[in-house]
This record gives sequence, C-alpha cells and structure tokens, in this order.
Amino acid sequence: MIDDIGNPLLTDFKVDESLDWQMSRSEKYCLMGLMKKLSPDVSIEIGTFKGGSLQVISHYSQKVYSIDISDSSRKFLSPKFPNVDFVVGDSVQCITDIFQQIEKEGRRLDFILVDGDHTRKGVYRDLEAIFKYPHKHPITILMHDSFNPECRKGIRTFLESHTEFVTYAELDYVTGSYWHNGTYREMWGGLALINYDPQHAGQKLHINQSQRHLFESTYLHSAHLLKDRLAFLFPLKRRIFKTLGLKNRDDIYYDF
Ligand SMILES: C[S@@+](CC[C@H](N)C(=O)[O-])C[C@H]1O[C@@H](n2cnc3c(N)ncnc32)[C@H](O)[C@@H]1O
Repeated sequence: MIDDIGNPLLTDFKVDESLDWQMSRSEKYCLMGLMKKLSPDVSIEIGTFKGGSLQVISHYSQKVYSIDISDSSRKFLSPKFPNVDFVVGDSVQCITDIFQQIEKEGRRLDFILVDGDHTRKGVYRDLEAIFKYPHKHPITILMHDSFNPECRKGIRTFLESHTEFVTYAELDYVTGSYWHNGTYREMWGGLALINYDPQHAGQKLHINQSQRHLFESTYLHSAHLLKDRLAFLFPLKRRIFKTLGLKNRDDIYYDF
C-alpha cells in the first residue's frame, strides 16, 4: 500500500493534482507559506521533475528559472507556465549564466530551491555554485531532502566551511520522513533553510539542527548505514538492470 504522505487537503493555493509533487504534506505547506510571504521577483528552482513544486514557485514569483538535467520537463510543462524559463542541463554548469541574466535585466533574485542532485557532492556543488557568485541582494535558499544522510552531510559540510553571508541556517526547518512509499528503511524529505545576505560580514555561524536527535536515532535503524557505503556500486547496478530490462526505482529521474 502507498501511504498518502503528500496531500495537503486544506489550502488557499489550489494544488494541481496532475503534477507529481515529490514532497510531503508538511513540506508542501511550508513551500506555499514561504512563497506567499516572500512573493519573489525572481526565483530559481534546481530540479524541475514533473512540475509539482514549480506550480507554487511559479504562482508566487514574477519570473522563474527552472533547471533540470532532463529535457522531459520542459516539453510537457512549458505550456502550463508562461513565466518560467526551462533550462536544460547540469545545474552547476547553468546557474551562473542565469545569475548574470537576472542582473543584466535589473531584476532581483529572492529565492532558490535546491532539489536536483541529492548526492553529498551534488548538493555541495550546487551550494558552491550559488555562493561563488557576487550576489547583491539577500536570498532565501531552501534545500529539499535534508533528512537524507548523504544530502544532509553535503549541506552541513558546505556550511561549516562557508559561513560568510549566512545569517541563519537550519537543517531541520521541516523534518523529513522515514521508510515511506516503499523506500525500505530510508530517510528522505526534510527542508533545510539558509538565509543568505551579501551585507553580512560572517560572524560565527550556528548551524541549527533542531531535530538532530531524531535524525541520529533514525539513522541507526536505517538502511543508509550500509547502503550509502555501497553507493559506488549503483552505476553498475543500473547497467545490469538496464541490460536485463528491469525497472530500477531510482530510474524515475532518468527517464520520465
Ligand atoms: C526530486 S526531483 C525534483 C522534484 C521537484 N522539485 C518536486 O518537488 O516535484 C529531482 C530532479 O532533479 C534533476 N536533476 C538531477 N541532477 C541534476 C543536475 N545535476 N542538474 C539539474 N537537474 C538535476 C532530476 O532529473 C530530477 O528531475
């Protein structure tokens, strides 16, 4: 049975159920509330997938750049979202051009959702690409899957070595989920939040982890203890599955 962890039911924002939205109920509520409050001039989303989170970001922002390494999103979503530029490619390669474009147009980047490559290195690289640009305005940065041990490690290690410009950081802004929808003993979801301010000189940063004990206790019961150590075998597993014509659960992000 698939648990319903995702339907918010009672909202001001009318959710389009036809758009697969890869977030839990609490994460969706959070994104809706945050977008309404920020009412961004420009937003960037890393990880378009099937447009679930994009529907909210697009609704509350004047203009959005949504990046995905796959071309599939753009093809079926562009008619639905006239204020969105769909950018196809590796986020790290594309994002600086987008920053420059926003600046050239005299616009203001207010919000970034990081929800693309969830590996430790992938998240780290995304944050590095965001921070290396000389932004002129404060930005709210939300990172999905901060409850996943590898993803969390990427965010935490990045923050530990890049405290400048960060006025607030919380890894458990929204707490994640354990073993849902068939993800055997896995930890996913959760939202981390960074407030970035280029005027901030960089005093000592406290990285909040308000659900650290929950995270650590859950980790001890999780499949990640073993699975994350064997991650180097995943490309081989994917190749074997492909050769045998079998469906690999992680492949939903490779062919959609
Ligand atoms: C979890 S999904 C995004 C879900 C979406 N934000 C939502 O809430 O419905 C992750 C997406 O990131 C994309 N992706 C993975 N690595 C990427 C990269 N390096 N650059 C850009 N997109 C990437 C995948 O193709 C996939 O569509």
